[in-house]
Amino acid sequence: MPEPAKNPPAGTILPAAAAIGERGRPASEPTASDVGWWRTAVIYQIYIRSFADGNGDGFGDIAGIRGRLSYLAALGVDAIWITPWYASPNNDGGYDVRDYRAIADEYGDVRQAELLIEEAHQHGLRVILDVVPNHTSTEHPWFQAALASPPGSPQRARYHFRHGRGADGAIAPNDWRSTFGGSAWRRVTEADGRPGEWYLHLFDPTQADLNWSSTEVQQEYLDILRFWFDRGADGFRIDVATGLVKHPDYPDLGYREDDLLVLTDVPNHPHRDRDEVHAIYRGWRRLADEYEPPRVFVAEAWVADPQRLARYVEQAQLHTAFNFPFLQSGWQAEELFTVIDATLRSMALAGAPPTWVLSNHDVERTVTRYGRADTRKQQGRSGHELGPVDEALGRRRARAALMLMLALPGVAYLYQGEELGLPEHMDIPDERIQDPIWTRSGGRRRGRDGCRVPLPWTATPDDGAGFGSADPWLPQPAGWERLSVESRQRDPDSMYHLVTCALRLRRELDAPQELEWASRSRTVLRFRRGPEFECIVNFGAESVPVAADAAVLLRSDTSEATRDPLGPDTAAWLRRARP
Ligand code: NOJ
Ligand code: CA
Repeated sequence: MPEPAKNPPAGTILPAAAAIGERGRPASEPTASDVGWWRTAVIYQIYIRSFADGNGDGFGDIAGIRGRLSYLAALGVDAIWITPWYASPNNDGGYDVRDYRAIADEYGDVRQAELLIEEAHQHGLRVILDVVPNHTSTEHPWFQAALASPPGSPQRARYHFRHGRGADGAIAPNDWRSTFGGSAWRRVTEADGRPGEWYLHLFDPTQADLNWSSTEVQQEYLDILRFWFDRGADGFRIDVATGLVKHPDYPDLGYREDDLLVLTDVPNHPHRDRDEVHAIYRGWRRLADEYEPPRVFVAEAWVADPQRLARYVEQAQLHTAFNFPFLQSGWQAEELFTVIDATLRSMALAGAPPTWVLSNHDVERTVTRYGRADTRKQQGRSGHELGPVDEALGRRRARAALMLMLALPGVAYLYQGEELGLPEHMDIPDERIQDPIWTRSGGRRRGRDGCRVPLPWTATPDDGAGFGSADPWLPQPAGWERLSVESRQRDPDSMYHLVTCALRLRRELDAPQELEWASRSRTVLRFRRGPEFECIVNFGAESVPVAADAAVLLRSDTSEATRDPLGPDTAAWLRRARP
């Protein structure tokens, strides 16, 4: 497989990381892989079903991505992360996998996947895939074999099958809830036609949780990783990385009848962030390090405590973990300061780069969220139920937030359409909603479709604004073509140009991977990376002057690098004279 042609920006080790290394272990010299591309990369998330439709059937696909690699390279990102593209009944956006070594028919085939990886590399882009180890689809051959086998069989031991409670076993084994609503258990019918055991599904009932104490399960996933590493994949995003290990006694969590949300804030949680999960990732790291260049991981880990999060990225485990508290924070200086500072400290101690993400396929788009009175991410909620949106305000803040994120040291993630400033689509008709959250919550939650709408590429409405099909799998809002790549490229004041400029500057400046707070107040954050580069973000109502000895490189409110004071919700990047 050819190596990426583009030179990744040289990463440097955070001073604290180099000095301390893994917590409690003597410091060691960084190896070649420690200074790898993944420490400073900007990674673009492709939600394949909605990125670009190469054959006009309404679904994005591999051909669509292959046709847009030049766009991604020109945008200036270092890597792409592609959400699951495997064979799947698609009850949860492909996170319900039937066959991890096959591509869904609507996306292409393994040969096309190999070609995509190869061509991405030729464009200087690394490719991160998405592995789903917590559960398989109930259409997976293993689950079908479990259904056809009796209680206590090795086939059932790959999943969590339990007897129900009560005299006839009609009550679920415990009170755990599915993230999508309702009980996390479903009862099966045994071969003799009688109601039998229950299996665990922490997500949709068609996503059965695997039993990670099974060595067969452990071996199978190493083999799946190897399959794609051998085909040139540069790494994996690990779905539900905190959830693989369950408490062997399956204790109740203490839900109330009307709870819609999964209880998370529970000490010694029986199915989240259990200590035993780390042994799995040490094995995965050994495998990734067998490759040249070494392959990399990013954990999808919704962990609030930065110290607990850091445990996933200590040496000999995963390379990086998503830092969701950053995305969950409101648009508020003190809140963001607290998250950024805690992240930098805990990641430096663990020897890992921090990561930053504002948007993905599971959360409301920032243009919408930041336009509300309460700008914090709301767990499980989205759309009109959260109140009115001032989209102009949301857009101004989303622009400043992007500049803040891209100014921070470490790794940054962009979600497709973020560069276009797409808002959440809040008016998808009920009958078109696909997210299982909608039915599982009995229509009380609309779910995540609003951030998964097919991308607009052209300034005319034809073919779904250039997506490639007139009637895509999710409907686009009217006028979507005005937010298309073509329209945004023509407008010098667009989010698209802000992102491309910021990415170019980020690469050219190649600022040291350390951050020093220059000043902060209840309304302004100001930090430096090295003596020259400074970022200011004004969250307050008062304007903030630009220092007289600084050159303005980029500002979020205009495409002109003026020296005007920074108004509310505005960010600027400055080059300061060397002291
Ligand atoms: C996290 C994924 O990002 C989300 O889309 C999915 O529904 C769950 N994991 C279950 O796989
Ligand atoms: Ca297609």
